[in-house]
Amino acid sequence: MSNEEVFFKWLPDYSVHIQAIDDQHKELVNILNRLFIAVSKREGDSAIAGILDALMCYTQTHFSQEERLMREAKYKDLDAHIEEHRKLIEKLDSLTKKYLLEEKPIYFEMLSFLKTWLREHIQGADMKYSAALRQAGFAVDDWEIEASAEMSRMTNSKSWWKVWKAA
Ligand SMILES: [Fe+2]
Repeated sequence: MSNEEVFFKWLPDYSVHIQAIDDQHKELVNILNRLFIAVSKREGDSAIAGILDALMCYTQTHFSQEERLMREAKYKDLDAHIEEHRKLIEKLDSLTKKYLLEEKPIYFEMLSFLKTWLREHIQGADMKYSAALRQAGFAVDDWEIEASAEMSRMTNSKSWWKVWKAA
């Protein structure tokens, strides 16, 4: 796949200036790109189901870590942010169920929706909280160490993670 053809290209503009969060956002972009390829090439159900599982699991862990960070920093717009996360999880959940249980295909419109949602969420709500934390002088170091350790525990414990990483 050449650069021009990448479905979702990470841009430096998307950085929220918190390394662990940027790394996690990049991984979400990777998983979405992997899903796009699998759908385009009509890969089998088990490949697509594995990627959907990775996407759901990674998104949930990422959201809960972000929410913990905002809670620790006593961020004032935490509730509205959690609500955005909840709505996306609901969407992802229904996409996965439709695919796995009702055997409905995944449409490119849905992939575009996820891409747009993630980009707008990063550039909107995520930028807002990271700017607020910076302004308040909140140090993210301790949170970052814990978050990275939790994320590696999660990915190491899943054998499908290795499968989709190798694909
Ligand atoms: Fe977020």
